[in-house]
Amino acid sequence: MLFLGLLALTGLVNSSTSKLDALIRLLNCTDFPPNTNQTVATLGANEKEKLDIRLPRSLKPLHYLIRLQPLINGNLSIFGYVEVEMEVLEPTSNITLHLADIITKNDTVKVSALNGTASVGIKKQQYDPEREFYIAHLEKQLEKAEKYVLSMDFLGILGVFKGFFKSTYTDIDGTTKNVAATIFQPTDARRAFPCFDEPALKATFEVHLARETWMTSLSNTPLAETRPVCFNNNREGQEGWVWDRFERSVPMSTYLVAFLVSDFTYIESWKDDQAQFRVWARRSAIENARYVASIGPKILNFYEDYFNISFPLRKQDMVALPDLSALALGNWGLTNSSKVKDMDANQRSIQQVLEEIKGNVGWMESNYDAIAEWLAEKGYSAGLVGF
Ligand SMILES: *[C@@H]1O[C@H](CO)[C@@H](O)[C@H](O)[C@H]1NC(C)=O
Ligand SMILES: *[C@@H]1O[C@H](CO)[C@@H](O)[C@H](O)[C@H]1NC(C)=O
Ligand SMILES: *[C@@H]1O[C@H](CO)[C@@H](O)[C@H](O)[C@H]1NC(C)=O
Ligand SMILES: *[C@@H]1O[C@H](CO)[C@@H](O)[C@H](O)[C@H]1NC(C)=O
Ligand SMILES: *[C@@H]1O[C@H](CO)[C@@H](O)[C@H](O)[C@H]1NC(C)=O
Ligand SMILES: *[C@@H]1O[C@H](CO)[C@@H](O)[C@H](O)[C@H]1NC(C)=O
Ligand SMILES: *[C@@H]1O[C@H](CO)[C@@H](O)[C@H](O)[C@H]1NC(C)=O
Ligand SMILES: *[C@@H]1O[C@H](CO)[C@@H](O)[C@H](O)[C@H]1NC(C)=O
Repeated sequence: MLFLGLLALTGLVNSSTSKLDALIRLLNCTDFPPNTNQTVATLGANEKEKLDIRLPRSLKPLHYLIRLQPLINGNLSIFGYVEVEMEVLEPTSNITLHLADIITKNDTVKVSALNGTASVGIKKQQYDPEREFYIAHLEKQLEKAEKYVLSMDFLGILGVFKGFFKSTYTDIDGTTKNVAATIFQPTDARRAFPCFDEPALKATFEVHLARETWMTSLSNTPLAETRPVCFNNNREGQEGWVWDRFERSVPMSTYLVAFLVSDFTYIESWKDDQAQFRVWARRSAIENARYVASIGPKILNFYEDYFNISFPLRKQDMVALPDLSALALGNWGLTNSSKVKDMDANQRSIQQVLEEIKGNVGWMESNYDAIAEWLAEKGYSAGLVGF
């Protein structure tokens, strides 16, 4: 799927000059610099590497429920809980999935039939560090076409610029503020929660993030509800914490899942009253995001016109993370950009801003990936490749 998306992207740049002309006209700029080589090359290489270390094909994930409480302002531990529903494609007596930098709480691991209460005993739990495999050896064989759910509590850690990580910035008043964000592409979702971390193994996601009340959290889908944190066991620091639950996502690859917990603020604009478009930044940089907020909906309209299909999401959040160099990353509904902070429409030409969006931030590229992937799923791949 990733490959199709990339083909589409390459095709777009090489041969669809009239569509690009349309965008250039729309944004009133004279030059639109395409450069997709980097993305294609790195992703291609990663795909190859992964071939040797693929998960067994016996199980297919269907749905994840993920609960994470990152202690951003504490010791950086992440209290995690995951439930993954799976369908058995071939009989197997083990459940193998990815995990890295995570301590499993072995006595909390449970496997049970999705349609009943019957649980399946676990003989042995094992870790293969080379392939980053967690393996639960089961007491009985899982039969083809049945569905099971594996659940566990685990302890994670906010890492450094990969997986779910902590970043800091200095506020106007000189205080250091912490932010937690994700970089999952290509294979670091496994550092945030145990998962089948391969792009082809798509599933739906329901994400719950615990945050302190003065912070906000974002994920790919709109927020569904917020409620106080109360665990069964009394943990420290629960006072002043809430759970944000996000709506269930469309089926997607693990690397497209994204979270942000921050004290950022945002500027909002709307695409035809249908899709909310927000640009998030730290308070001292938010004014610089205004221009991006104003062109965002125009670019979304362009996508719709370009692909002749309605924008499939109800919201698109774009985040300006301070002090990070840019990498292209496609996320459903949540994209981050390190360059928004530099954007100031008064000082820079539209072309420069576009270059930053297109070349550095990867906002357009990343959305092409995500949208092309979605279109490919809907059977539009041939058309895309032919552009
Ligand atoms: C487009 O840009 C030119 C200058 O480059 C300006 O004169 C013109 O008014 C702009 N048009 C719109 C619709 O913004
Ligand atoms: C893209 O890659 C091709 C082949 O690797 C190369 O010939 C071309 O110059 C590259 N283009 C850019 C803009 O880097
Ligand atoms: C971090 O702090 C929490 C409670 O504040 C504690 O439960 C957890 O074990 C700590 N993590 C580590 C790695 O010590
Ligand atoms: C787990 O099961 C799969 C499929 O039955 C098999 O290919 C794989 O070797 C097993 N893994 C281990 C570690 O036994
Ligand atoms: C617990 O599970 C891990 C894999 O996550 C494994 O490495 C470890 O050996 C297990 N410990 C016990 C006591 O089974
Ligand atoms: C669960 O569904 C499977 C088929 O998917 C069926 O074989 C099995 O008997 C069902 N179990 C229960 C407890 O309903
Ligand atoms: C856009 O899609 C609609 C159907 O969804 C089709 O009727 C129409 O011809 C398409 N337009 C173009 C320009 O392809
Ligand atoms: C966030 O920004 C960093 C730096 O630009 C980038 O590498 C990463 O892919 C982005 N992460 C998300 C969640 O978009």
